[in-house]
Amino acid sequence: MNRISDKIIEAENLVYSYSSDGTDVPALDGINLSIARGEFVAVIGRNGSGKSTLAKHFNALFLPTSGAVRVNGMDTKDSRHLWKIRQTVGMVFQNPDNQIVSTTVEEDVAFGPENLGVPPDEIRKRVDLALEWVGMSEHKRHAPHLLSGGQKQRVAIAGVLAMRPECIVLDEPTAMLDPSGRREVLDTVKRLNKEDGITVVLITHFMNEAALCDRVIVMDAGRIVMDDAPRNVFSQVEAIRRLHLDVPQVTQLAHELARSGVEIPLDVLTVHEFADALCGSKLGSAQSSSGEWM
Ligand SMILES: Nc1ncnc2c1ncn2[C@@H]1O[C@H](COP(=O)(O)OP(=O)(O)OP(=O)(O)O)[C@@H](O)[C@H]1O
Ligand SMILES: [Mg+2]
Repeated sequence: MNRISDKIIEAENLVYSYSSDGTDVPALDGINLSIARGEFVAVIGRNGSGKSTLAKHFNALFLPTSGAVRVNGMDTKDSRHLWKIRQTVGMVFQNPDNQIVSTTVEEDVAFGPENLGVPPDEIRKRVDLALEWVGMSEHKRHAPHLLSGGQKQRVAIAGVLAMRPECIVLDEPTAMLDPSGRREVLDTVKRLNKEDGITVVLITHFMNEAALCDRVIVMDAGRIVMDDAPRNVFSQVEAIRRLHLDVPQVTQLAHELARSGVEIPLDVLTVHEFADALCGSKLGSAQSSSGEWM
């Protein structure tokens, strides 16, 4: 029996090694982590720090070399849970073109639930709802390869949503998109988390995206080296730089202004907070949140 818990994902002493040319290369080196239902978590870290390897453990694409990963209390090593785990945690990857499998948007979104054996009437409903959620209903009969990058990623997200996951893990979903595509995808993901309570794990190299999350996990050499609210992570500018990462541009600007004698808090994360801090203006809170991270 699985106990209902507020933890949707747990990793305990997770170690994972890739076998390459007969030698084991450790990519995850003792990860302990739990993600609560409804959280919006960013995972950041330099290239090769283990982010993607970790993400692939969250829906049993990879199994631990040692240690354990549990999804809703289900051990990912127990093959009886595989489909339930894949249904609970959906993955969205970097390249939207690699995620297209059909010739129309609606067929593409239907692919996942079809594989789960969902009855056709129910698939119809799920596809319509998922496309509505990501704002792509009017494109349902269109060919996915003709869409913009941001639209394709939203279709990929709809495909995952149609499987009714409780958690979505996105591995650099905006890396190949232009700024407006990035904003479309981020706004969609943020809305799914805030309005529908879907747990989101977002792997990103964009620090202003990480700044929007509730919690930031920083990885280095297969380990978690920081795990805190974005404000507490990004105010440690020197420590972040030592990990070969950046802080959001506005945080950096605030630090540079402070060095030149301007009185400004050092933990600002968004353009609106920056404007408020500099001018005492209430402009930020009066505007929509969608431009906040650009
Ligand atoms: N298929 C593989 N075979 C052998 N080693 C691998 C393989 N995939 C990844 N690695 C190694 O495992 C480590 C972690 O890689 P991973 O892809 O998880 O990092 P990442 O943080 O996602 O990096 P990036 O930011 O570049 O996407 C790296 O040292 C990488 O070289
Ligand atoms: Mg990666």
